[in-house]
Amino acid sequence: MEQTIINSNGYSVYIGNGVFDTIRSFLLQYEFKEDKIFVLVDENSRKYCLPALMSNVQLLQKVYIIEVPEGEEIKDIETCQRLWQELADHDANRNSILVNLGGGVISDLGGFVASTYKRGIRYLNIPTTLLSMVDASIGGKVGVDMKGLKNQIGLFSNPQVVFVIPEFLDTLPQRQLRAGFAEIIKHSLIYEKHYWDDLSGNIFQDIKNWKELIDWSVEIKNYFVLEDPLDSGFRKVLNFGHTIGHAIESFSLQNDSDSLLHGEAIAIGIICETYLSNKLVKLPKSEMDEIVHYVATSFNHYTLRSGNYDLIIDIMKHDKKNTGGEFNFTLLTSIGNSLINQSCDINLIRESLRFYQNLNC
Ligand SMILES: NC(=O)c1ccc[n+]([C@@H]2O[C@H](COP(=O)([O-])OP(=O)(O)OC[C@H]3O[C@@H](n4cnc5c(N)ncnc54)[C@H](O)[C@@H]3O)[C@@H](O)[C@H]2O)c1
Ligand SMILES: [Zn+2]
Repeated sequence: MEQTIINSNGYSVYIGNGVFDTIRSFLLQYEFKEDKIFVLVDENSRKYCLPALMSNVQLLQKVYIIEVPEGEEIKDIETCQRLWQELADHDANRNSILVNLGGGVISDLGGFVASTYKRGIRYLNIPTTLLSMVDASIGGKVGVDMKGLKNQIGLFSNPQVVFVIPEFLDTLPQRQLRAGFAEIIKHSLIYEKHYWDDLSGNIFQDIKNWKELIDWSVEIKNYFVLEDPLDSGFRKVLNFGHTIGHAIESFSLQNDSDSLLHGEAIAIGIICETYLSNKLVKLPKSEMDEIVHYVATSFNHYTLRSGNYDLIIDIMKHDKKNTGGEFNFTLLTSIGNSLINQSCDINLIRESLRFYQNLNC
């Protein structure tokens, strides 16, 4: 299998075979010294991914490792302060580079810490979850949460390079893998129909060749990023499934002991917003049925009680995507074609939540 190279906004994404060689060449080319390389990991990427990285890239064997606990809770300013201090204590300077080895939490946090320390040092991403391989590690958005609100503090800042090693998925829990798969489904729906046709010919359990899906999924995300690097309009196409999905994710975080993962909530959002697409922008019913069937059978059903619909809609009202009391949706006119900035009546949103709920009956 070939190594894939995708050029993004001033940096490249290397995927697959021989990536360890490319990492070695990259570090040598820029003459990074051992004492100027820092690797940020969480407890899982340290355990499951760091050993392979270190044994394949000799220069990384004696570098300084910074570990944080796993989970979204540590993606905050307190952790940044600790990391800035740790970089300072070990004389990090403009010749240093931070290697973010982990999922989206690590690339968001590490990218933010690197971009703000001493007005910015270089960083690179080695994503280790499916979600971070196809989404979080590319696109230049970095940041942290504030008081439980996601990504409130942050900036646009690009990595030097992204290295994707699909083998790292071997240790990723199935639930996390499936959650990342929701973003791949989204990418297949918003760009060109043949991606959807290829993807929907396989069920999640049967997918073995993740590299191929990662290749085209990164290409699709990158297409929208390059068209609109600062997220001022066109990139909103990537929000398909996310207006309702984000609200359900927040609702679940506030109310469930075992809350939904981001991708699990986005899968529900995709179903509801597919329903809205049929009602509002003429997505053909046959395409709606195809999408709903595929997504509903790829994910476990989540119980949305009708008494909670208005709570979910209230959360949507506070989402930064929805301005001036209007809800802002990206909807599909057909598979592969979408419209951004679509508003929607509250009653229809309730109806879409009921549509999802009734799928289980
Ligand atoms: N910047 C962006 O454009 C962007 C886009 C999407 C999501 N995000 C952010 O990404 C984050 C979610 O990312 P995520 O889903 O990768 O979560 P995550 O980083 O929390 O990783 C999920 C879990 O998998 C574990 N893990 C990571 N790699 C592993 C491996 N190879 N084997 C075993 N376990 C492993 C982690 O320790 C964690 O427990 C959120 O904070 C979200 O806001 C950012
Ligand atoms: Zn998402």
